[in-house]
Amino acid sequence: MTSGLEPGLLSQPNKIEAAERQFSKDVKAGLSAYPKKLSSKYLYDKTGDALFQQIMQLPEYYLTKSELDIFQNKTADLASTIGKGPFDLIELGAGDGSKTIHLLRFLTERTTEFTFMPIDISGNILACLTNQLIAQMPEISIRCLEGDYFDMLDEAVKISKHRKVVLMLGGNIGNMNKDEATAFCRNLFQRLSPGDMVIMGFDLKKNPATILKAYDDSQRITAAFNLNLLHRINRELGANFNLDQFEHYQTYDPISGDCKSYLVSKEKQQVKQGENVYLFEKDEVIFMEVSRKFAPAEIEELALTSGFVCSNFIFDSKGWFSDVVWEVPAY
Ligand code: AVJ
Repeated sequence: MTSGLEPGLLSQPNKIEAAERQFSKDVKAGLSAYPKKLSSKYLYDKTGDALFQQIMQLPEYYLTKSELDIFQNKTADLASTIGKGPFDLIELGAGDGSKTIHLLRFLTERTTEFTFMPIDISGNILACLTNQLIAQMPEISIRCLEGDYFDMLDEAVKISKHRKVVLMLGGNIGNMNKDEATAFCRNLFQRLSPGDMVIMGFDLKKNPATILKAYDDSQRITAAFNLNLLHRINRELGANFNLDQFEHYQTYDPISGDCKSYLVSKEKQQVKQGENVYLFEKDEVIFMEVSRKFAPAEIEELALTSGFVCSNFIFDSKGWFSDVVWEVPAY
């Protein structure tokens, strides 16, 4: 296969081993803690990716549709806030680019001078994205960066000779708690220069029932998505979770904006993994994921505490989701 990419994870056995050790360590620490917890970053194995694709198709799961609405119908607003070329458009977690493609098409049609630099952990997805983009806009300039967000952002900053516009879509910032989100945004800020920009997707506070339904869907796909992590622990770490003995429980607190998922143990039970034994009381929970919802003022506060100036909110037609523009101010 000639993807023009640096070798991916599959050709780097040391990286795979390190990732497996980390997974094993995190699972042990999380299941030994009280309350028990597992990190939501581990939800995305092959099955988890497929289940998340199904979640995005659910009628209740509005996030993807809302942000797509912004990229399809507010494209001119996005392009005018980004401003004139030349610039480098760096996307953290580009994935299949299904939202970004609308902006890229708008920019290339207007012969804006820019280079698209998608960052993703999956070399495979970057190769697919590149092929698709080149087929649709042969004139586009692309530089793929395969790896962790901040490693690759350092790389992008090294290569880049232009103003930088960093995209982080999907509302992934919501999966961090307040301190993690602040640390993340400060990290981002430190790598940028005055005049650079960040466009970040935030899911907004709205009718609490609407939010709860998006994560407690009637087809139970979100339940399967959470339970799949137990399955992954069985498969990759040799544990013996019985998936029938756990059920998904979802909450939303409209004041904090925390939408949280848990797995509840239906019975008192023991789970073995290697030499580790984990005891679950009946009704004991494992905290799985937080998906935070924001008020615009909370987004401004996050911008300010991490050094940015919040300069524009671009909303979908329902006002449910926003791609927010932050700038690095001149000192
Ligand atoms: C991919 C982080 C945006 O929090 O809405 C969807 C993940 N979890 N349903 C989200 C998710 C349960 C999703 N993000």
